[in-house]
Amino acid sequence: MKQAIELIINGETHDLFVASNVTLVEAIRDNVGLLGTKVGCDMGTCGACTVLLEGKPILSCITLAVECNGKEITTIEGVSDGVTLSNLQEAFVRKGGVQCGFCTPGMILSGTALLKKNSKPKVDEVAKALEGNLCRCTGYNRIIDAVLDASVSTSHLQDQGEK
Ligand code: FES
Ligand code: FES
Repeated sequence: MKQAIELIINGETHDLFVASNVTLVEAIRDNVGLLGTKVGCDMGTCGACTVLLEGKPILSCITLAVECNGKEITTIEGVSDGVTLSNLQEAFVRKGGVQCGFCTPGMILSGTALLKKNSKPKVDEVAKALEGNLCRCTGYNRIIDAVLDASVSTSHLQDQGEK
């Protein structure tokens, strides 16, 4: 059975008509056409499909689109303005936290959520925040370094009263 739903993705409202078993990542990729969110395992174990739902990281491959009706979703396309990379994205580049890039959108969203609630995380807090995101090529040290590096520059900006 299909249902009319409204998803607010990266600040833009999308009116969709989807079957009740359509997952959020299917709606994001197939219905809305945003392809930055990746599907790895498609069973809730790799974190590639991570997006933010009302600011919190969730696995969009095991979340139904209809459960998100009326809610705010942030995908990797919404992390920056489309021209300038976010602070965390820049740090991933600087620290070599990207190789094939398949895990990167999920990593960036988990890291973004962490830095929003904890602007100066410790190494173990970063590792904990990213523990659901698997990377098969870069290894985790550079990724954790990137989040720590972004936290230093983010804290610096916040100390100056900038956001
Ligand atoms: S694709 Fe969703 S957790 Fe792997
Ligand atoms: S950069 Fe390739 S899986 Fe992480």
